[in-house]
Amino acid sequence: MCGIVGYTGSKNAVDVLLDGLSSLEYRGYDSAGISVVCGEKLTTIKTKGRLQNLADLIKEQGKPQCHCGIGHTRWATHGEPSDLNAHPHVTEKLSLVHNGIIENYQQIKGKLLSQGYEFSSQTDTECAAKLIDSLYSGDPMDTIRKAISQMEGSYAFGIVFADHPDKIYAVRQGSPLIVAKGEGENFIASDVPAILKYTRQYYLIEEKEIAEVSAQEINIYSPEGEKVQKPLLTASWTVEQAQKGGYDHFMLKEIYEQPRALRDTVHPRISDGLPSFEMDDVPEGFFKRFEKISIVACGTAMHAGMLGKALIEKLARIPVETDIASEFRYRNPIMDKTTLVIVISQSGETADTLAALRLAKQHGVTTLAIVNVTGSSIAREADYIIHTYAGPEIAVASTKAYSVQLSVMYMIAIKMALAKQEITTNQARELTSSLMHAIETTEKSILLDEQIKAYIKRYENLNDLFFLGRGLDYALGLEGSLKLKEISYIHCEAYAAGELKHGTISLITDGVPVVALATQEILLPKMVSNIREVRSRGADVLLICKKGMRIDRDVYGEKLELPAIDDLFMPIVGVIPLQLIAYHTAVLRGCDVDKPRNLAKSVTVE
Ligand code: F6R
Repeated sequence: MCGIVGYTGSKNAVDVLLDGLSSLEYRGYDSAGISVVCGEKLTTIKTKGRLQNLADLIKEQGKPQCHCGIGHTRWATHGEPSDLNAHPHVTEKLSLVHNGIIENYQQIKGKLLSQGYEFSSQTDTECAAKLIDSLYSGDPMDTIRKAISQMEGSYAFGIVFADHPDKIYAVRQGSPLIVAKGEGENFIASDVPAILKYTRQYYLIEEKEIAEVSAQEINIYSPEGEKVQKPLLTASWTVEQAQKGGYDHFMLKEIYEQPRALRDTVHPRISDGLPSFEMDDVPEGFFKRFEKISIVACGTAMHAGMLGKALIEKLARIPVETDIASEFRYRNPIMDKTTLVIVISQSGETADTLAALRLAKQHGVTTLAIVNVTGSSIAREADYIIHTYAGPEIAVASTKAYSVQLSVMYMIAIKMALAKQEITTNQARELTSSLMHAIETTEKSILLDEQIKAYIKRYENLNDLFFLGRGLDYALGLEGSLKLKEISYIHCEAYAAGELKHGTISLITDGVPVVALATQEILLPKMVSNIREVRSRGADVLLICKKGMRIDRDVYGEKLELPAIDDLFMPIVGVIPLQLIAYHTAVLRGCDVDKPRNLAKSVTVE
C-alpha cells in the first residue's frame, strides 16, 4: 500500500504535502515524492528512501512556491524502490500519484508503446499516467472517466493537470480515499491522520466517484457523471492521538495506550452487566442463529481470531474455524446460511480479508466485521460492523488494535454462550465482570516494562528464539513471535509446547533462548514438563507465568510474573510483556521500530 495526499489553498503546498506525508509514512516508506503546479508549470521532486530524503532534496533544490500539489509515499509492488519508480509519475500535461495495482498495465503499456509513448520506470502507475495523457482532451473529468474504464485492478489516484493549476482530481476503486474540507483550502488523502492538523471534516469517496477539488469548492461526481451530494463526516480522531506525545516511538505509545483503548471499546458495550452490541445495530438474538463460525483475518488480527476460536468454543460450544484470509479464498470453504463469517481487520483495507468478506457475501452468508478504521472498505461492505476504538494505530506493528480485537472476541463469546444457553445470565455477568477486571489489570502488566528492558539486554545479538505455550498461551506465543520477528528481525517461532518434541526440539541447544508462557493453571504440570525438556537441553528460559503459581526454581532462568486474574482472561494481560519484549529488543538492536523493513501498515495487495 502507499499513501497519497493533495492540497489546494493559500498555504505553501510543499509544506502541507510533506506534513501530510509524514502522517502517512506508515503506509509505505520505500520512496516519496511531490508534484506542485503553478502558472501552468509542473514541478516534481521525488527520491528513493524515506520522507526525510525528500525533504532534504527539496531543501537542496529550493522549495517551490506553489499552492496546489500532490504527494506520495510508496510501498513498492511493481518495480524496486528507486528514484525512477518513485511517484508522482509525470507527463507534460499532468502528474499522478497512485495507491493500488493496475492489473492490466502490460496490456495498456503495449497500446501506448504502439502510439509512440516511452517508459522510464517499471511501474504500473506510469502506464496510468500515460494513458490519461493519451486521452487528454482538456477536460479532466471526461478524460479520467475514459481512462478508468480501461483500467482493471485497484487504485486511488490524485492527479494535477498543468492547464488546471488550482485543482486536484481524485478517483478510487478498491483503495481508500478521502476528500477533506478546510477553510479556503481543501485536501485529498488516503487516510484521516494526514489532514487532522488542518481539518477534521471529510467526505468518503465511493468506488469510481471522481472528485474535483479547488481551494473554494469540492465537487464529487458519480461514475455516470452526475453530481453527488454526500454527508460531510467529522473525524473522531484528534491530532494528539495521531502524534507521538512524548514517547520515543509510536509503538511504545500504542502499547501504553492499551488500557484506554480497551475501556473505550468495551465500556460503551456493557449494559446491565452484560455485553451488548445495540450501539452496533446487531439485533438481540443475532448470535442464536448460527451453528458454525468462521473467523478470517491476516497476521496479528488472525492471532486475535485464534484466541476468539478458543473462547467461543469453550463458552458457547459452537464449532469455529479460523482461516488466514489468503488461504480462505482458495480452499472453497464450506459455508451455508447457518454460518457466521467474522472478519477482523485494524485497517479495514487488507486486500485478502476484503476478498474473503466478498466471497462470503457471494455465498449469501452473514458477515460481521471487527474493524478499527471507520469508513474503510471492510467496514462499509460487511453486513454488521463492530468498531474497535483503539484510535489511530500508526506503528506498523499492531499492538493496541490486537488487544481491542481480542476484547471484542471475549464479548462475542459471552454473548453467544448466553444466546445458546450454555451459560446462565449470572455466569455471563461474572464473565463480563472478569473481562472488565482484566482490562483494569493491564495497567499492572505495563509496570513490567523496566524488568523486561533489563532482561532483554541478552537478546541484542540473538539469531533465534522460541516461544512455547499450550492452549491460550500457544495462540499468545504466535503473536509474541510475530511481533519480535517483524520489528527486531530475529528469527523466532512459536510452538505448541507439546509439539516441540516431534521435530523442532533438535534446534534447542546450549543457550538457545526460549520464552515459556505458562498462565493456565490446568495446563501447568504438562507445561512445566515441556519446559524441563528444553531446559535440560541447555535452553535459556524466560518463564512468563501468573503471580502465585508454584514452579520449581530449576525450571527457568528468569521469571516474569503477570498479575493473577482468571485463566480465561490471561491473554489480555499476557500480550503486553510480549509486545514490550519485541519493542525493547528492536530498540536495542538499532532497528527502525515504527517502520520495519519491507513492511507496510496495511497490505492492500494480494
Ligand atoms: C503485525 C501486523 C499485521 C496485521 C495484518 C492485518 O504487527 O500489524 O500482521 O495485523 O497485516 O492487518 P489489518 O488488521 O489491517 O487487516
